[in-house]
Amino acid sequence: MITALFFLVCFGFSDGANVTPSEGRRGQWQLLLKSTGVVGMHVALTYRNTVIMFDQTGAGPSSYELRKRFNGGRCTRGSHDIMDSTCYAHAVEYDISINKVRPLRLDTDPWCSSGSFLSNGTLLQTGGNDRGAKRIRFFRPCGNDKCDWMQSKKILSDRRWYASSLLLPEHDRVVVVGGRRALTYEFVPKISPGEKSFDLPFLHQTNDRNEGGNNLYPFLHLSSDGNLFIFANRDSILLNLRRNKVIKTFPRIPGEGSRNYPSSGSSVILPLDHRDNFQRVEVMVCGGSSTGAFTAAAKRRFLVGLRSCGRMVITGNKHKWDMEHMPKPRLLHNMLILPKGDILIINGAKRGSAGYDNARNASLAPYLYSPKKRLGARFTVLMSTKIARMYHSSAALLPDGRVLVAGSNPHGRYTFHNVAYPTELRLQAFVPHYMERRYHTWRPSNLTIQYAGATSHAIEYGKEFTVRFFLERRPSNVMGFSAYAPPFTTHSFSMNQRMLKLRCRSMVRSGDGWVVAVLEAPPSSLVAPSGYYMLTVVNGGIPSMSQWVQFGHA
Ligand SMILES: *[C@@H]1O[C@H](CO)[C@@H](O)[C@H](O)[C@H]1NC(C)=O
Ligand SMILES: *[C@@H]1O[C@H](CO)[C@@H](O)[C@H](O)[C@H]1NC(C)=O
Ligand SMILES: *[C@@H]1O[C@H](CO)[C@@H](O)[C@H](O)[C@H]1NC(C)=O
Repeated sequence: MITALFFLVCFGFSDGANVTPSEGRRGQWQLLLKSTGVVGMHVALTYRNTVIMFDQTGAGPSSYELRKRFNGGRCTRGSHDIMDSTCYAHAVEYDISINKVRPLRLDTDPWCSSGSFLSNGTLLQTGGNDRGAKRIRFFRPCGNDKCDWMQSKKILSDRRWYASSLLLPEHDRVVVVGGRRALTYEFVPKISPGEKSFDLPFLHQTNDRNEGGNNLYPFLHLSSDGNLFIFANRDSILLNLRRNKVIKTFPRIPGEGSRNYPSSGSSVILPLDHRDNFQRVEVMVCGGSSTGAFTAAAKRRFLVGLRSCGRMVITGNKHKWDMEHMPKPRLLHNMLILPKGDILIINGAKRGSAGYDNARNASLAPYLYSPKKRLGARFTVLMSTKIARMYHSSAALLPDGRVLVAGSNPHGRYTFHNVAYPTELRLQAFVPHYMERRYHTWRPSNLTIQYAGATSHAIEYGKEFTVRFFLERRPSNVMGFSAYAPPFTTHSFSMNQRMLKLRCRSMVRSGDGWVVAVLEAPPSSLVAPSGYYMLTVVNGGIPSMSQWVQFGHA
């Protein structure tokens, strides 16, 4: 039998308006679980399609009571055990396919910590509070109930509470930056024996001592030249880590207020694009708190947050913040890159700052930001939820295109009554417009990925691989292929989040609807540190389910 083959031109993502029929639709909310048992303060999606969530062991009893302590002892209903935090879970693994959580073991407190996925999909989690502040923990996803946190014997040089971390282009090396009274950075693992942390004057300069810092959880992004972009408070630098040298100081972001914890705005890098060989890197920073908001909140005055967003290209040699405004002020939100390359701004509040009971006026409506539209037309207000997601809330993009939303707890302990914003254990998904049934004929389905040398796991940098998928109708003229690095999200910042729009070399569709596209892996670990990425085919703005691919060195 002869099947007709149609050779199609590979198009990149369109620059202009979207041809999708779904414009103007606002999405929906799903309640997934009435309780996750622990607060989704830190969340990270693993390549096994599970989501790790944890809060703090020091928060007293969680809502996830254990029958047996992790160290073996039985938990009774006696008053002593009810007060014993080891009789309660503070970390869970959520399995997306069965919509269930299971408890995970924690030996020390990972409260306000940081994390990065290594090349093999293991989560490297760093720091925390108290006995956990110098700890390094690993979670190796296993796809069954057998895996758990492992605490490394090695420890950090400095206590890292409210630090950020980032995976570097060097194989499996992570940098951890900042934290309370830790105005330094350090590597995990160390580069040379006996190495300690490195002082970072930039963190001294950006520290608002009387306002809770405003430079904690600094925004870290890897630039395409391998240097580290660090944004703290209102300022930013490009740091050459090898030479411990600041090679660029960028202009201050215009306007008042601050952007980092406890002001807690958020930041992403816009998708990197094969058309410039992934060289151009543009950072976006949105929201935050007004000047003095942290101390005002202590006096029960909740200052209106920042409405402004800034975009700046950090590569090349002209640097200027282009400013624009969100529909409303916002802080304590998350920014996630959706498969088409739009930015979702979700969770948070309009007034106050981060910290216990420091914010008011929940931001219930997510915003969709379309970076390529004209100025003034980029924000769309999406469907509101009824559940406030304030301090200690988070969100994660799932492989099926939904966005998981968890957490919120502006209190030192689990507090459900007589407070403005109770501890929130409900788990929701925001279901973007592109998932509606009516677009199913647009949706690429049944993706499989093939590449030569499939015995080693990773697709080598720069090499071709094919993705085969089914499409009921002829592809639109805006087919795109995105690769997304899943972040570790906490305190309004998604560490290690990046998206690459991959080059398609050829695309053939047979008469029965199967399409084979030949794609090119990113050229190097400078633009795509080795690890797992979610590969998504986007047809006219409608994404497929994502499949995991691993990029790396041979
Ligand atoms: C991944 O790498 C880490 C760090 O080298 C190691 O501890 C872990 O066991 C590895 N995981 C797998 C699944 O091989
Ligand atoms: C915050 O909420 C209060 C009380 O509901 C309301 O009066 C006020 O207008 C809100 N402020 C903002 C900035 O939305
Ligand atoms: C795609 O996969 C689904 C479920 O795995 C299957 O039911 C369906 O027949 C597949 N579609 C095609 C065109 O093969």
